[in-house]
Amino acid sequence: MLAVFASGTGTTLQALMDNQERYNYQVSLVVVNRACQAKERADKEGIITLFSKDWQEIDLQLTGHNIQLIVLAGFLAIIPQWFCEKWDKKIVNIHPSLLPKFGGKGMYGMHVHEAVLAAGEQQSGCTVHYVSAEVDGGAIIAQSIVPVMGDDTPDSLAQRVQLAEKILLPQVIGELLCNT
Ligand code: GAR
Repeated sequence: MLAVFASGTGTTLQALMDNQERYNYQVSLVVVNRACQAKERADKEGIITLFSKDWQEIDLQLTGHNIQLIVLAGFLAIIPQWFCEKWDKKIVNIHPSLLPKFGGKGMYGMHVHEAVLAAGEQQSGCTVHYVSAEVDGGAIIAQSIVPVMGDDTPDSLAQRVQLAEKILLPQVIGELLCNT
């Protein structure tokens, strides 16, 4: 039983929903902290959604739905320390860079790709990692590398990285859940 937390367009959530059968897991709950396209996508698939910023309420709902693993899929909020500790090794995040490079506070979405290009990196990618109280600081589970092209813009690099994310994340989630 999987819960997905999202705040944005929800393409990562969509990839997770689309791959449920293939990797043998079930998205049982989607938590959103703002009105967003991710919620519409979950509604369309008939998945229960919770619109909340109340971490006690979120915690209760997760327990009530027998959630084994939480995936942060473009979820833009800092998670309180008590929640990270309670759900230790049960929250994973997908980050659009090769951590520990280009992570930490303020490094999300397009900011990451802009920073990668500004630094002149020859490769980028994505990282699936456990979530701890330190932003983007939890143990790394898996990474996927993509090349940075000479004529890349933040947009073109984001597209390449996001394709890699949508292959890596569902596969890793399937593996993690089959080992719990
Ligand atoms: C994804 O690319 C994800 O890696 C990134 O936000 C995007 C969400 O897109 N997450 C972060 O930057 C976290 N630090 P989506 O709303 O279409 O799934």
